[in-house]
Amino acid sequence: MKKPMLAAVLIALASPFMAASANAQFFAKAEDAVKYRQGAFQMIKAHFSALQPVIKGQVPYDKARVAAEVSVLDVLSTLPWVAFGPGTEGGGALEVVWSDTNGFKAAQDKFLASLKPLTAAAQAGDLDKLRAAFVKTGASCKACHDNFRK
Ligand code: HEC
Repeated sequence: MKKPMLAAVLIALASPFMAASANAQFFAKAEDAVKYRQGAFQMIKAHFSALQPVIKGQVPYDKARVAAEVSVLDVLSTLPWVAFGPGTEGGGALEVVWSDTNGFKAAQDKFLASLKPLTAAAQAGDLDKLRAAFVKTGASCKACHDNFRK
């Protein structure tokens, strides 16, 4: 989480001219940023959905597999945000991502915070806690999508 966040903060603090060039270090074109964040979200979806059969009790609970899946999710959850820099409006994102940056950041923080109990439950091998945390993470995806995604 730290590096992309720091980059986003630096981009936000820099002058518009600097912002354009700082952003260009990550992405040559705005479409590249859009593709990157969409790809990151697709991976998040894949690894989050992979937990669903376990949550629903459709497959036996395999503690090691679930813990591995959740640790992948922990990494993936840090990826999309750097690709919402200035000048990358578009894709499936609403304009409000760039006008309400505090609100968008708060929605990210809620999502990232929701992964902590999910990770703890996965490491402890506690299926009941995993279920409860999974529902909260899912709610945080939806809450952000309701406000910031087309
Ligand atoms: C803080 C806001 C936020 C959170 C949290 C969030 N998303 Fe998203 N998501 C977005 C935005 C904004 C887009 C649109 C990106 C674009 O197209 O530019 C998006 C797009 C997507 C897409 C479509 C990608 C594509 O190919 O167009 C998927 C799938 C997705 N999110 C899944 C998830 C899942 C699953 C979670 C939770 C585990 C999640 N998102 C959490 C904001 C969020």
